[in-house]
Amino acid sequence: MICLGIESTAHTLGISIINDKSKRVLSNIINAYKTKTGGIVPSRVADHHAEAVKPALRKALEKARINITNIDLIAFSQGPGLGHTLRIGAGLARSLSVLLKKPLVGVNHCIAHLEIGRFLTRAEDPVLLYVSGANTQVIAYEAGRYRVFGETLDLGVGNFLDGFARELGLGFPGGPRIEEFAKKGKEYIKLPYSVKGMDISLGGLDTNLKQKIRSGKYSKTDLCFSVQETVFAMLVEVAERAMAHTGKNELLLGGGVACNKRLQEMCRIMTRERGAKTFILPNEFLVDNAAMIGITGLEMYKAGMSTSLRDAGIRPYERTDDVRVEWR
Ligand code: ATP
Ligand code: FE2
Repeated sequence: MICLGIESTAHTLGISIINDKSKRVLSNIINAYKTKTGGIVPSRVADHHAEAVKPALRKALEKARINITNIDLIAFSQGPGLGHTLRIGAGLARSLSVLLKKPLVGVNHCIAHLEIGRFLTRAEDPVLLYVSGANTQVIAYEAGRYRVFGETLDLGVGNFLDGFARELGLGFPGGPRIEEFAKKGKEYIKLPYSVKGMDISLGGLDTNLKQKIRSGKYSKTDLCFSVQETVFAMLVEVAERAMAHTGKNELLLGGGVACNKRLQEMCRIMTRERGAKTFILPNEFLVDNAAMIGITGLEMYKAGMSTSLRDAGIRPYERTDDVRVEWR
């Protein structure tokens, strides 16, 4: 089967083509909305996505060397996300479904970050550490659902890093700039560390850092280094706790922050010490992308799941454990 995947939950409009038989991603076009500040006005991002749809669709088909009539299935991200942007993807999916007379599957974006790891690596039943701009969750499969074992109680880790970088004057997106500066850091500055059970909290650290920056007493490189060491240790701790709790021995990373090499290294050290394994996908599959939507849609469809036109409305607030996982 050939599946066309559509992603539009937030900054990124993505179109992918997946071949189920060869287990190959034939194309994965990513068009991310960019701003200087990182501030996002949902209606403007939606305008960006609406303009990006046609060229992205053409590129995805060309790169995959597929004629649109050869598509067997259309998968789209149904939620969670921004209403304005989700509507662009859902509208495109419904139109294509009617036009091509092909079935439709609505996919949960967070679950897709995990399913792509199962499809592209040898991980069978991983715990997912999902760390992006807005999302910070530890997700794993248990008793017919994907469940959130831990999450942030306030700020998403990517948004936190971007805010910190802005305060330091490093520009947007902050994550990659912080990673560069951290490499030159020498001294560890003690920072508040806040893990509560399986959850983390970043609000206190955020305030503390603003005070430290304004005091002018600390170097940018030491601050970046110390922020990474502190926040990533918190993430690794909750991921490890979820692995211990569920008895699983595979860790998968997802989300834009997972591109960070130091976080990847810390995860590898933790899993090695437990006799477990870390799986890391190439960056194009860590950030928001449509390949993961196409892949999850295929798994769902093969298990007999599909979405009628009537049910194909967006689900901006869908929770990870709202979805009945019939494909596992
Ligand atoms: P979502 O809507 O799922 O929350 P998103 O729209 O924020 O996702 P992603 O591409 O998954 O999109 O993540 C973007 C975040 O990843 C930004 O906050 C960015 O600073 C962060 N990031 C990117 N590269 C790195 C890096 N090397 N180190 C740390 N953070 C990074
Ligand atoms: Fe995401």
